[in-house]
Amino acid sequence: MKLGHIDIGNIPLMLAPMENITDSVYRQICRRHGADMVFTEFISSEALARDIDKSKSKFNHTEQEKPIGIQIFGHDPENMALSARMAEQANPLVIDLNFGCPVRKVVAKGGGAALLKDVNRMIAITKAVVKAVDIPVTAKTRLGWDINSVNIKEVAFRLQDAGIDMLTIHGRTRSQMYGGVADWEIIGEIARHPYFTIPLIGNGDIQSAEDAKMRLENYPVDGLMIGRSAMGYPWIFNEIKSYLHTGTIPVEPNIKERISVCRNHLKQSIPAKGEERAVFEMRKFYKNYFKGIHNFKPFRTRLFGAKSLAEVNAVLEEINDEFIDRL
Ligand SMILES: Cc1cc2nc3c(=O)[nH]c(=O)nc-3n(C[C@H](O)[C@H](O)[C@H](O)COP(=O)(O)O)c2cc1C
Repeated sequence: MKLGHIDIGNIPLMLAPMENITDSVYRQICRRHGADMVFTEFISSEALARDIDKSKSKFNHTEQEKPIGIQIFGHDPENMALSARMAEQANPLVIDLNFGCPVRKVVAKGGGAALLKDVNRMIAITKAVVKAVDIPVTAKTRLGWDINSVNIKEVAFRLQDAGIDMLTIHGRTRSQMYGGVADWEIIGEIARHPYFTIPLIGNGDIQSAEDAKMRLENYPVDGLMIGRSAMGYPWIFNEIKSYLHTGTIPVEPNIKERISVCRNHLKQSIPAKGEERAVFEMRKFYKNYFKGIHNFKPFRTRLFGAKSLAEVNAVLEEINDEFIDRL
């Protein structure tokens, strides 16, 4: 699949944008473990228009993360165009438009999934951004606002007409937030529709290599995007790749490997965030870093209680000693 002048591979596997999760360090980890493309966390176009340093710093990425998309959100076409131009200076492969974020603070201001209720504005934003930058523009959205207003077909066709180069669909409505199960039926319909010719990426509830294969067999999308299952389990990308190409799934990472990736993740997060925050934020990842390990809970509780790098490392040492022969 090509985006601009870059070939990102056949059925690319993408790391989903996730606020406070997919920072530069975690994107590098996922790229090393088989993600073909990554995205920044969403960045507010209103904050960018006010030149807020913290928001601008979210553009930062390393060579190892490329190909990368910078994702922006907002409701004002001018601010979005301005933000896209600012993001373009950071030299990403694409600018991605967030038309799916369900959280109240975003939709209350008319951004994210709120644009599913105002498709004319969504299209005005898209056209303004496409006109403003020279690199490909992509979009990520949901099925509709709620079950009674599923309008993704219209949205997909109009976004294509407005000039985007790739569309990602998360198979939920805004009302579902992250509940229930993702519905891939309409994603499949759009993928099969002769009018829709740009790459379509399917997203929602891919939890394993088998799951990924099943989606591809039933819904002919051009690539897959993975969010929560990759959060603390970057191995999922290579597991999917291996299963798709050879029919076998590599053995799960052993305890040493898990500890090593987890420890480096924390260590590398400290320069940008400071030790206290980096230690605190690691709590979101422990569940998956150590998923499937029997009787792990007491150790997880202790990792949660650790307040410093030294304390986390001491618990990781104990985990190593406890589980080295068992996994
Ligand atoms: C903690 C968290 C933060 C997220 N932040 C973003 C974001 O910044 N931009 C975005 O487009 N989607 C965001 N999402 C949605 C994911 O990109 C993805 O669409 C969703 O989690 C469904 O995929 P999954 O089932 O593979 O997790 C976020 C999801 C989670 C759980």
